[in-house]
Amino acid sequence: MSSSNSKSGASRDHDFATRLGHVGRDPAAHGGTVNTPVYRASTFIWPDTASQEAQRELARDPAYRGTMYGRLGNPTTVAFEDAVAELEGGFRGLIMPSGLAAIVGAVLGVAKSGDHILVTDNVYPSARNVFLNTLTRYGIETSFFDPLDVDSLASHIRKNTRVVYLEAPGSDTFEVQDVPRIAEVAHAHGALVLFDNTWATPYFFKPFEHGVDISLHAATKYLVGHSDAMLGLIVTTRDIYADVRSTVRGLGYIAGPDDAYLALRGLRTLGVRLDRHERSAIEVAEWLSRQQAVLGVRHPAFEHHPGHAVWKRDFTGSSGLFSFELPATSPQVLNTFLDHLQLFSMGASWGGYESLVKLPHATRTFQPLDPKRQIVRLHVGLESVADLIGDLDHALGAFADARARQ
Ligand SMILES: Cc1ncc(COP(=O)(O)O)c(C=O)c1O
Repeated sequence: MSSSNSKSGASRDHDFATRLGHVGRDPAAHGGTVNTPVYRASTFIWPDTASQEAQRELARDPAYRGTMYGRLGNPTTVAFEDAVAELEGGFRGLIMPSGLAAIVGAVLGVAKSGDHILVTDNVYPSARNVFLNTLTRYGIETSFFDPLDVDSLASHIRKNTRVVYLEAPGSDTFEVQDVPRIAEVAHAHGALVLFDNTWATPYFFKPFEHGVDISLHAATKYLVGHSDAMLGLIVTTRDIYADVRSTVRGLGYIAGPDDAYLALRGLRTLGVRLDRHERSAIEVAEWLSRQQAVLGVRHPAFEHHPGHAVWKRDFTGSSGLFSFELPATSPQVLNTFLDHLQLFSMGASWGGYESLVKLPHATRTFQPLDPKRQIVRLHVGLESVADLIGDLDHALGAFADARARQ
């Protein structure tokens, strides 16, 4: 299904690590540059009316992506779209200005007023908000299902369900859904499967081999990988591409070439970064699971984690993002923990080289979260793992002292 647009030597037969270094590159078309350069252009000019007419004719095909006007794409943005589509085995990509824009744009591309979307309960909270508070105003209804209860999934599907929306593992609590089984049920009822692949990236999960129709990315995270750009991407199957493209480009969504370039550059090191994020995160998670103050660790690679068997079957690895649980306590005591961390900075995002900590405010419709446990989300960065464990040790010690004094 891939558009196979890499012209720098690697094919789908090569190892994934090799392909990461070659996708989205065409040195012969760009003056011999190794990576595809930044094209800053709103305007592309035609040398004569005949070539203008010829290109307009080609552009009647909704899948046509030659460069005509900056809002429709340029060589840098198209190279990034092709690179990720090729890595995931999707048809084509559509670059978007943020991950959330990719989520909303994809839903608008396939659903219309009067449709219903069925969403995993552990979805990224901002997606939950926009589905409930914004899409509802445009006549698209949302309800949620328990990510671990595939048996009852069919009972939540309605006559007008157009989309089953997944994110595995889910935000903050990290349960892993059985994507192929869910896709089977969704497709049997005529619904499409949209999947947020931000956590695993194509390096650890191939959505189109598991029944997904649209793969979504906050490229802001691991694809860019350096916490210095906002970017999103929608990758679709061939059948859906024209509809989604005409919707999102018709709404005026595009991203800038500088950000597309940063993501193309990020792709080159995605494998080495994720290998290290994975190793360090598991080491930190194992250490945390042995600490007295820690009530539990939520990490898909842990044997007793909900959905672990599915993760082991369908994913080839885990990234640097997971959660652990502390006893719920006063905000002052929790702040003592946060304020004693020196290497884990407080930050809303993840996926860069740096370690981050966040206290998420997750909402659930099914299986409400235990109010006696405070979830702490960590992004384990590329620093020395011994230093990171030392940092957590110091902060957990301060937390235990503050609790004892309470
Ligand atoms: C799983 C997931 N999906 C999507 C997004 C949205 O991405 P962006 O912040 O680029 O809009 C985020 C952001 O935190 C996320 O964690």
